[in-house]
Amino acid sequence: MSAKETKLHGDVYYPSDEIVAQANLPDWGKAATAALKDLPSFWEQEAQNLEWFKPWEKVLDDSNKPFFKWFTGAQVNIVHNCIDRHLKTSPKNKLALIWESEDGQLHKTYSFFAMNREVSRMANIIKSMGVRKGDRVTIYMGRVPEIMFAMLACAKVGAIHSVVFGGFSVDALRDRIQDSESKLVITCDGGYQNGKLIELKRICDDAVEQSPSVENVLVVQRTDHGVAMNETRDHWYHELLETPVAKDRCETEVMDAEDPLFILYTSGSTGKPKAILHTHGGYMVGTYTTLKYVFDLKDEDRWWCAADPGWITGHSYIVYGPLLNGATSFMYEGGPTHPNPGRWWQLIERYGITVLYTAPTAIRGLMRFGEDWPNQYDLSSLRLLGSVGEPINPEAWKWYYDVIGQKKCPIMDTWWQTETGAFMITPTPVVPLKPGSGTRPFLGQEAEIVDEDGHPVEDNQEGYLLLKNPWPSMLRTIYGDPDRYVDQYWSRFPGKYMTGDSARRDEDGYYWIIGRVDDVIKVSGHRLGTAEIESALVSHPMVAEAAAIGLPHEIKGHGIHCFVILNEGNAPSPDLAEELRQHVAQHLGPIVRPEEVSFIDKLPKTRSGKIMRRVLKARALGEPEGDLSTLES
Ligand code: WT7
Repeated sequence: MSAKETKLHGDVYYPSDEIVAQANLPDWGKAATAALKDLPSFWEQEAQNLEWFKPWEKVLDDSNKPFFKWFTGAQVNIVHNCIDRHLKTSPKNKLALIWESEDGQLHKTYSFFAMNREVSRMANIIKSMGVRKGDRVTIYMGRVPEIMFAMLACAKVGAIHSVVFGGFSVDALRDRIQDSESKLVITCDGGYQNGKLIELKRICDDAVEQSPSVENVLVVQRTDHGVAMNETRDHWYHELLETPVAKDRCETEVMDAEDPLFILYTSGSTGKPKAILHTHGGYMVGTYTTLKYVFDLKDEDRWWCAADPGWITGHSYIVYGPLLNGATSFMYEGGPTHPNPGRWWQLIERYGITVLYTAPTAIRGLMRFGEDWPNQYDLSSLRLLGSVGEPINPEAWKWYYDVIGQKKCPIMDTWWQTETGAFMITPTPVVPLKPGSGTRPFLGQEAEIVDEDGHPVEDNQEGYLLLKNPWPSMLRTIYGDPDRYVDQYWSRFPGKYMTGDSARRDEDGYYWIIGRVDDVIKVSGHRLGTAEIESALVSHPMVAEAAAIGLPHEIKGHGIHCFVILNEGNAPSPDLAEELRQHVAQHLGPIVRPEEVSFIDKLPKTRSGKIMRRVLKARALGEPEGDLSTLES
């Protein structure tokens, strides 16, 4: 049955014949059925499109659940498939990366051939600093080409990268360097965002001073605004590039498929951020396959994933996925509204972008400036659009579809997580769309929505979203804490992966994500943990106790609201509230700045002392407080 013959309920957008005719996967239904029938064969076929130093003995090893392994016995390096492989064929001369600075003054392009040279030079430099297979390297940089070189250089030599988003500040960076015991940190002297200079090196200095594992800091010059250099520890990248160490060729390390590729810290239920671990083999197959089918990448495409490389979206779909597909990517250093709200649309016209992938918060933020901005530019190069990070409200979806996509570009609303590594619930271009729904699980995946006791709920009922099948790009563990991995994802509903989201499924089998059910707040699509925010507040001398919750925000999706109990002898005041907002931003980063800090005498807690954030939330929204039987009196 063709897509158009299927009767679906509600507001449905069917793909045009043109879109269907060029799809990399023309018959979604048939492919989905085949993949579910034989999961290992489906992934094996995809893996065969890539090059392996040694083939696998087994596609999926599930003998020690939930510690699944993929492509066991195989040897590979993701960088071999991102770069080396393309040097033997035509992509060699194709652009891998197009970059523009925030002020529009700098433009850079790198072919796959050039990419190999730049990555090899950086790899030789970090090797000369003693970085070896299995070592951890923290990367804390802005959106500049060198962040890609740094990540790929680590992977090339077999080191494990840990990228920390450049919008985080000292405490967040320090905790992540310390937890990973990185021996090298790669940073920039500074970065530019929304016309402001971000003092990356200075923040890095403060964090590194408290991190004894760090032996060297490699500094990429971007702003040249004069930074202090520690003579023995800090090294300018551009100076090392002039030395004989920085050779143009570097051998790509042979890795086992299951060897770690990177860790990426993310927030979950209570406690410290968790280091999500991904591997060379499975992550490679997952990101390659999902990008190929969901965004239909073609040779003539110019792909723009407008996320930051510091989040999983950037890892999978700025760095690894596009290179694995031999695609041309565009990267823009700055924010969407600098120097004016037409900046992104200007870039689409200037570079002939064909696929734009961004977050609902960016769409809402740009939508409020009106249609006149996009209408000044020629956006006709666009073929497909994408959304990620949080549910997209139908109003933003329609604006994106009508004004930016000019009613001809299907929107791929991709639901996934740091943990999943790649898209999990997502349409492909041939799938009919409903604004606000990610449609259905990707090939090989099945989802389930269950109640508190793990029983599947009826259609259109809200419940816990679970994934039923293993997939190659799944997280392997929480680095250094395997018990927490089992506990957080696999214990509450045994045998199934617990996503931490609530969702509902409609009568057509379409999934609608509602939001997080744990202590995670999604602010502008960024995933933040209440625990980190609360401990930043408590680090202020006047604060005794604190609780953070997320409340709806027009542009950001959710904003952070904090409730604070002061130490004896301190009086609440608007000035103090402002000081505390500032305090959080200074410690964790500007993206973590609370919308509001309120003072309170008592926090609602369970008898065992856990803060009941849902009660605070209900009170703030004037909603019923629900079951209070566990509330301490
Ligand atoms: C959480 C994961 C993986 C991409 C960036 C975020 C929310 C993600 C969607 C979407 C509704 C979404 C979920 C998820 N989320 N994509 N298309 N529709 N919600 O990765 O930081 O690990 O956050 O983002 O709540 O659990 P992340």
